[in-house]
Amino acid sequence: MHNNMSHFSLKSLFGAVFLFFAFSFGLNAQDGAKLFKQNCAVCHTVTDQKLTGPGLAGVFDRAPKGDWLHNWILNNEKLIKGGDAYANKIYNENGKAAMTVFEGQLTDKDVDAILAYIKNPPPPPGAGGDKVATADQSGEVKEEKGGIDPLYLLLGGIVIIAIIIGALRSVRHSLQNSYNRKEGKAETPEMTFGQEVKEWISGHRRLVGVFVIIIAFGGMKSCWDACYRLGVYYDWQTQKGYHPEQPIKFSHKLHAGDNEIACQYCHNSVEKSRHAGIPTVNICMNCHKGIQTGPQYGDKEIAKIYAASGFDPKTGTYANPQNPIKWIKVHTLPDHVYFNHSQHVVVGKQECATCHGDVKKMTTVEQKSPLTMKWCIECHRKTEVAMEGNAYYDKMHKALKEKYKGQYDVKFTVDKIGGLECAKCHY
Ligand code: HEC
Ligand code: HEC
Ligand code: HEC
Ligand code: HEC
Ligand code: HEC
Ligand code: HEC
Repeated sequence: MHNNMSHFSLKSLFGAVFLFFAFSFGLNAQDGAKLFKQNCAVCHTVTDQKLTGPGLAGVFDRAPKGDWLHNWILNNEKLIKGGDAYANKIYNENGKAAMTVFEGQLTDKDVDAILAYIKNPPPPPGAGGDKVATADQSGEVKEEKGGIDPLYLLLGGIVIIAIIIGALRSVRHSLQNSYNRKEGKAETPEMTFGQEVKEWISGHRRLVGVFVIIIAFGGMKSCWDACYRLGVYYDWQTQKGYHPEQPIKFSHKLHAGDNEIACQYCHNSVEKSRHAGIPTVNICMNCHKGIQTGPQYGDKEIAKIYAASGFDPKTGTYANPQNPIKWIKVHTLPDHVYFNHSQHVVVGKQECATCHGDVKKMTTVEQKSPLTMKWCIECHRKTEVAMEGNAYYDKMHKALKEKYKGQYDVKFTVDKIGGLECAKCHY
């Protein structure tokens, strides 16, 4: 009987573990929704509703067949410039508004997942509804469908641990009894878990006391840390002020300041993608093939560019092996945060200096902003959405003004377009 019990518990343990993983993997099917929300929902809905880009309902019927949609999503520019008829038609019909190029950001698998999602979108929530509210950029994609809520993972974990404890208890109990039988002693009766816990506690009062204190302190410490990181109490705990020494003494002051080279010349994806990007050594070589000495370090630092690119200044050829420069990242957001440069720089019309400080004066880049959640949110609360004369908003502008007439003094800060929604910034 007891053996059966433990057997049963072990089986249910494996069953639960299996179910748990199957559940997590099954959720991959939701990736399309999540990817769409992160990459496309600012410009598209999966209904007929037009934002910056056309509503994507029925797109499988109107667009060319085969790989066309796949290629378009990865690199629409290539199709338009390549003279593709349908690409140019929709480009002109949409007032030559540019769609983001996703090559390098999305994998083929991501694109397939997004296409599968567009093909089978979720049913629209509550019919009727307010047109403007759906134009509020999240389209039909709602938070719940965006992936696994960490809470479920946590609860899953707790359930599994509870099952493991239960299984181990039964195993121990039946081992104890078979030992007792062998020794000819009486079987110990099975206690309920609660009884067992009580008995153990009364036997180990001092130990329990110490544990309670440790856990209480641990809890306080992690609350404290979390608040720090969220920037709720102190900004100084962040990485603000961080300015590591880089492998090459590259100076923004010399390049972007004294020589007035545009930020976008080197950070050339900042207007097109979520990443600003760090230039490859080829970009350095555009100038340094010719400029072989600098004002401060002579040829010493520039020699490192040649070592990285495989360039031999004596022969003027790329004869040597290449060796990418390992720049040290200055700004980092945790993986669970989504931040998009093009949205802030192009659509939101924010200057680099607002977030990065006066980089033109820096010899080594320094992190000037705390990059906490509080920092993001404070700016979203006070910054007005740049709607006037912004192609991105021309369509929505009138409708929004109409909707909120008298409510906000027709003053639209970023929070009014969803800039405080958790899912906008969190995966
Ligand atoms: C910055 C805005 C923007 C983003 C982001 C964007 N698009 Fe577009 N998309 C457009 C515009 C504008 C067009 C219309 C063609 C043009 O003007 O280039 C378009 C056209 C399309 C079309 C063709 C529609 C038709 O009617 O034939 C598809 C499909 C498409 N986009 C899919 C996507 C997917 C998938 C994503 C996300 C991975 C995405 N787009 C992200 C702006 C955007
Ligand atoms: C000649 C090329 C070049 C130009 C022009 C340039 N940068 Fe940079 N930038 C780099 C390189 C290389 C790095 C990586 C090394 C470093 O951090 O100094 C970098 C790093 C950065 C970083 C830190 C990235 C990180 O790791 O978090 C910021 C912010 C930045 N640049 C902003 C700017 C701004 C703003 C401008 C215009 C005022 C600008 N850059 C102009 C080449 C350039
Ligand atoms: C658009 C042209 C241009 C690009 C691109 C460029 N540089 Fe320069 N670089 C210059 C100029 C101009 C100087 C200053 C030369 C002088 O004043 O004698 C310079 C000087 C330097 C120096 C010498 C510093 C000193 O004081 O001795 C280093 C090191 C350097 N650059 C690194 C880089 C790196 C690394 C990249 C690529 C991330 C890069 N540069 C890209 C134009 C460029
Ligand atoms: C609204 C604030 C904001 C503005 C405006 C902004 N950045 Fe950033 N930048 C950030 C944040 C936040 C990060 C960290 C991103 C991360 O870790 O994912 C970052 C990171 C970077 C990096 C590191 C590489 C990368 O892509 O993560 C570079 C380079 C950079 N920014 C350059 C620029 C330039 C150039 C401009 C102006 C054209 C600019 N930024 C405008 C907030 C901003
Ligand atoms: C300097 C002010 C400023 C800071 C700092 C800032 N943002 Fe923004 N953010 C804006 C503006 C302006 C917009 C509106 C752009 C637009 O019109 O879509 C915006 C829009 C957004 C959106 C799109 C909101 C929506 O409803 O479509 C996201 C997501 C976002 N920001 C994330 C972040 C994150 C994450 C951070 C911090 C790491 C951050 N932002 C920091 C100014 C800021
Ligand atoms: C405008 C962008 C933005 C919005 C909106 C936003 N967050 Fe954040 N959140 C961030 C950034 C950036 C961080 C990273 C800060 C850090 O760790 O320094 C963060 C961190 C967090 C963390 C992790 C803290 C830690 O200890 O690392 C939690 C939890 C969190 N956010 C919850 C939420 C919830 C819940 C909401 C909705 C009420 C929300 N966030 C809305 C930008 C945002």
